[in-house]
Amino acid sequence: MAKQAISTPVIRRLPRYYRFLGELEQEDMERISSKELARRMGLSASQIRQDFNCFGGFGQQGYGYNISELREKIGMILGVNERTGVILIGAGNLGKAIATHLDFQKRGCELIGIFDSNPDLHGVNTAGLPILPMEELSAFCRKHKPQVAVLTIPKGAAQELADQLISLGICGFWNFSHFDLRINNPQIIVENVHLGDSLMTLAYCMHRGEGCDTSDE
Ligand code: NAI
Repeated sequence: MAKQAISTPVIRRLPRYYRFLGELEQEDMERISSKELARRMGLSASQIRQDFNCFGGFGQQGYGYNISELREKIGMILGVNERTGVILIGAGNLGKAIATHLDFQKRGCELIGIFDSNPDLHGVNTAGLPILPMEELSAFCRKHKPQVAVLTIPKGAAQELADQLISLGICGFWNFSHFDLRINNPQIIVENVHLGDSLMTLAYCMHRGEGCDTSDE
């Protein structure tokens, strides 16, 4: 499939399509029209067609979309069959919750190392991995070559750590630290996550007294 620039809103909708199609597969559905998929997802049929056209369009006129084929193709675009090595830094409340409850493998990633600066945590088994001291980070990265780092550390530590991680080959950050990393290298991808923003969006919609599903915008 030829690579082309895809807009961020489309990319953000892809995991949702992937998830919905997985649910339809579990209902033993084989195919679905863009209209029916739109109805179930709260989108418009033209939005769905436009989104899929960014990747060459997947449907057939009069037939709709074959659910498992479509899911597989979207999965390929999302790279769910890949095994991107991930390390997590900061095994506190949030870090442990992410390590334990998120299925990395279903999303094309593999959590291969967990690090924390607190000696009391070293060796503690979390999601099947021992929490490692920061002193082992460099050697670990040289050996296992992780590409992604999850940052669940306090904001004050984020920038220095990110710079160190980039020098160790990390090229993607899933950054929960509440600090907007300053990275001048366009090859490095940063996904900042602020759960509070999502809550404020909900609060705003509720105060406006309108139902607004913001998940697909
Ligand atoms: P926590 O205090 O339970 O865990 C932080 C962990 O990071 C501790 O185990 C600590 O030893 C470790 N740590 C601190 N500095 C470090 C360093 N330089 N290198 C390695 N490890 C280091 O805190 P919690 O509740 O897990 O939150 C972690 C961070 O995530 C905080 O900055 C918090 O504000 C943020 N947060 C972000 C959310 C979001 O939506 N983005 C939601 C909740 C928390």
